[in-house]
Amino acid sequence: MEEMRLQKYLALAGVASRRAAEQIITEGRVSVNGTKVTELGTKVTEADEVCVDGAPVKPESKKMYIMLNKPVGYVTTVSDEQDRPTVMDLLGDVNVRVYPVGRLDFNTEGLLLFSNDGDFTYKITHPKHKLDKTYEVLVTGKAKANAIRLLESGVVIDGRKTAPAKVTVAEAGKGSAILTITIHEGRNRQVRKMCQTVGFKVLGLRRTFEGGLSLGNLPMGKWRHLSEAEVKLILKNASADGGKK
Ligand code: URA
Repeated sequence: MEEMRLQKYLALAGVASRRAAEQIITEGRVSVNGTKVTELGTKVTEADEVCVDGAPVKPESKKMYIMLNKPVGYVTTVSDEQDRPTVMDLLGDVNVRVYPVGRLDFNTEGLLLFSNDGDFTYKITHPKHKLDKTYEVLVTGKAKANAIRLLESGVVIDGRKTAPAKVTVAEAGKGSAILTITIHEGRNRQVRKMCQTVGFKVLGLRRTFEGGLSLGNLPMGKWRHLSEAEVKLILKNASADGGKK
């Protein structure tokens, strides 16, 4: 563990958020190697013994992998400059510091992963690993065959053609449809832009699968731990090329 500021160390140890940890320090409740510390800039390493209210604390070294069913109206960030609700607000009862693995837009719901394992996050989010992600998209307009074919073969967004996608029409009504779209790129607002490009207005977007993991019936706004088998599966899918490279 590299040298880090005391408030970060306390946050990683799950004692409190970084901001709340600052308060705990200034209140004189923290000691480093037996000496009370109230300076916010103090640096510590793994070799130091850090205590809060006399009890030793250590950053969690156990790897954590979490799936959240993100609702609309939350930003995928650890803290938002505009003070909007963040996905971290939904993980209040996870007592280890974890970070979002990838992102979903403010208005997108569904499967969002979190971890404190940097290698895992790197593998899952790196574009070269081409991990499949499936979205259910509620659109207005008729699901015409040529629009679906265009989405499948690739459309130009932000000046560059999208990679081939798998698209099925899950439900087709008169003025609306639900499409299931599987992509392995992760470009900014990609699914919305793809749909808009072929003339659909997107009314709702939900991620239901990522790298072989399913959102299943996880209730909206709730989280759960991934099983060991799920962690293995998504890592295997991130390292397999699936014929796509
Ligand atoms: N595509 C989008 O347009 N938005 C998301 O949140 C994810 C994929």
